[in-house]
Amino acid sequence: MFAPFKLKSVTIPNRIVMPAMCMYSATEDGFVTNWHKVHYGSRAVGGVGLIILEATAVEKRGRLSNHCLGIWDDQHIEGLSELVELGRTHGSVMGIQIAHGGRKAWGDELVAPSGVPFPDMGTPHALTTKEIQDVVESWRQGARRAHEAGFDVLQIHGAHGYLIHEFLSPLSNKRTDEYGGSLENRMRFLLEII
Ligand SMILES: Cc1cc2nc3c(=O)[nH]c(=O)nc-3n(C[C@H](O)[C@H](O)[C@H](O)COP(=O)(O)O)c2cc1C
Repeated sequence: MFAPFKLKSVTIPNRIVMPAMCMYSATEDGFVTNWHKVHYGSRAVGGVGLIILEATAVEKRGRLSNHCLGIWDDQHIEGLSELVELGRTHGSVMGIQIAHGGRKAWGDELVAPSGVPFPDMGTPHALTTKEIQDVVESWRQGARRAHEAGFDVLQIHGAHGYLIHEFLSPLSNKRTDEYGGSLENRMRFLLEII
């Protein structure tokens, strides 16, 4: 439990990992607050080896709530880098999960591979091929900002029925172009993001 763990270039001081957990405590514009500094700082002081920050939205329309952290704007980098610094000062390796809620996001601007609603939620706009490329670019920019903020670990949220998962699943992906149909096609969006 207390032996270091090496993963590529990152050495985690022990085997205790805090997974990404939504905390709904950001400002409406997705900025870090003092609450996050206390929350993540406390876990670092407690000795967690790897802290993975909560699902952090790569697009404003991809937030899971209106108080989720955001990484869709360069202005988000400063607050996130303060969390990295704070955690690192107390010995934790700092990671972040980046995310897009797709048809299960908060707000009215729902997007998905197809216009199939999640039960009890609005009908999403089916992304065009060009719009898919724009969303892939948002993930790319989110990863770039995470790197600039100093995170050593990046986790891509591909589960829980959110946008990437919506492409992977034939239940929500009814596309007939190169992003739908076969497993290879349904994986294309995720592979392009990676
Ligand atoms: C309050 C809370 C918030 C969560 N938020 C996220 C999240 O932002 N991203 C995610 O992938 N999983 C989230 N989860 C799921 C946890 O990551 C999951 O419980 C964790 O991987 C531990 O797995 P286990 O419960 O099977 O041990 C959340 C869980 C809880 C309890």
